[in-house]
Amino acid sequence: MSKAVVIFGSTTGNCENMAEIIKAKLKDASWDVTLKNVADSTASEVADYDFILLGSSTWGDGELQDDFIDFESALSEVDLAGKRAAVFGCGETSWPEFCAAVDIIEERLKGCGATLTTEGLKVDGEILEDEVSAWAEKAIA
Ligand SMILES: Cc1cc2nc3c(=O)[nH]c(=O)nc-3n(C[C@H](O)[C@H](O)[C@H](O)COP(=O)(O)O)c2cc1C
Repeated sequence: MSKAVVIFGSTTGNCENMAEIIKAKLKDASWDVTLKNVADSTASEVADYDFILLGSSTWGDGELQDDFIDFESALSEVDLAGKRAAVFGCGETSWPEFCAAVDIIEERLKGCGATLTTEGLKVDGEILEDEVSAWAEKAIA
């Protein structure tokens, strides 16, 4: 069975909620899926998986969620050539840098050699299960 990992950084639980919906969708599609908080993850371990899904909310002025900062910079040392990946996040369009964390992580993954399977998901405000599920289905297709 192909192995997937969903790693999230979340301060108030919104991005964690997205990660749980994505995990359920992958499980339905028969992936062997692991869900992890980025605070309990190391960048090098993502290389153990075939499909890497990373999610972060955006804080400050267009910055990664706090727990994601060190992880994202450590990823620069990891070779992800041949791996598939996709990025999700949440934020609010009332902020000038809407969901900038998604763009930061996508750039990093491309630099590591991973192939992004779909455009990053940027959710504005409320997390809707149908929206997140539909994105996950596209990401794993
Ligand atoms: C102080 C502060 C700064 C924020 N900065 C941004 C931002 O730059 N861009 C954005 O899209 N959302 C921003 N947000 C909105 C959060 O990303 C949003 O509330 C998100 O749902 C939090 O997700 P989490 O609970 O997973 O951390 C900010 C919120 C706060 C309170």
